[in-house]
Amino acid sequence: MMSTQFYKLKIKDVKKETSDTVSITFDVPNELREKFSFTSGQYLTLKAMIDGEDVRRAYSLSTAPYENEWKVAIKKVENGTFSTYAQHLKKGDELEVMAPTGNFTANSTTPKNYVLFAAGSGITPIISIAKYLVNANDSNKVTLFYGNKSERETIYKLELDELAKNYSHINIVYIYSRQDFDNTLLKGRIDSAKIEALYNEYLANEEVNEVYVCGPEEMIFAVKNFFASKGVDDKHIHFELFNTSNSKKEEAEIDESEEITSHVTVIIDDEEFEFDLSSKGKNILQAAQDEDADVPFSCKGGVCCTCKAKVLEGKAKMDLNYSLDPEEVEEGFILTCQAHPLTKKLVVSFDEY
Ligand code: FES
Repeated sequence: MMSTQFYKLKIKDVKKETSDTVSITFDVPNELREKFSFTSGQYLTLKAMIDGEDVRRAYSLSTAPYENEWKVAIKKVENGTFSTYAQHLKKGDELEVMAPTGNFTANSTTPKNYVLFAAGSGITPIISIAKYLVNANDSNKVTLFYGNKSERETIYKLELDELAKNYSHINIVYIYSRQDFDNTLLKGRIDSAKIEALYNEYLANEEVNEVYVCGPEEMIFAVKNFFASKGVDDKHIHFELFNTSNSKKEEAEIDESEEITSHVTVIIDDEEFEFDLSSKGKNILQAAQDEDADVPFSCKGGVCCTCKAKVLEGKAKMDLNYSLDPEEVEEGFILTCQAHPLTKKLVVSFDEY
């Protein structure tokens, strides 16, 4: 099971990256370094009590393991409880932080041709992956396409320029949707037509081995479809969804069939919690929390995978799933923040991982 434990970490540095984004670097003491070791692309879950509510959010690390730094960028989102709170954090403050986790990771063994796409704050796991890849092997070829409204709003622009200066095997291409300049190729949003144009200009005739993409859903699908059409196998196209919209969640249909009441058993840390739950009611995570089970969660949006558990008996259905891969679903894993029972008896365990 993923550990639900939080550790108090001191903030070592806060930096304003753009007008609406701060980066926060944590001081990880020696005794926690092993616990906080990570793979590029993983995230931290931060927790704070804000107006009496336990608020948690997942933020990808933007540093690479070799840097020995734990840095995240937090972009202020409209009405975002945590991101608004985070803009006022300062050096020396303490935050509760869960050890790094996540499946959107890169692992460089043999030299490959990597193509990375990021939009806006989606750069955070991507810059970590880019740094790792260029540092891991001089023969890796890395091309990063990074979309923003304008240069001023580009998070980590200086750091990326520095990276490109230090490593000749990375090419970083900035695409701006609102910048006033004449380059039609580099102006606009990263949609299907733009992806094709960028590919033709920067990668034509090259065999692309691995694709990493982080940003909004439309961009992810456009990148996936394009590279699938170029023969890149699905398992080499890795994505992390940022900016998931809750409206989608409301639209999602759980089940056309009639409502049933399920007797649900949730197992966590060898403890069992039992309750009745309607197939059309709240999700399993919420229901377990209402029973005071200390279940792990972060995004509650089907993105981060923190709430993953395994169905041991019965069946459940998810509204959304942006993080489990088909094999995991096949094995019976669910995102409990998205799952509802479909059978009269359901046993779900957080202890299988
Ligand atoms: S809490 Fe993030 S996927 Fe469920």
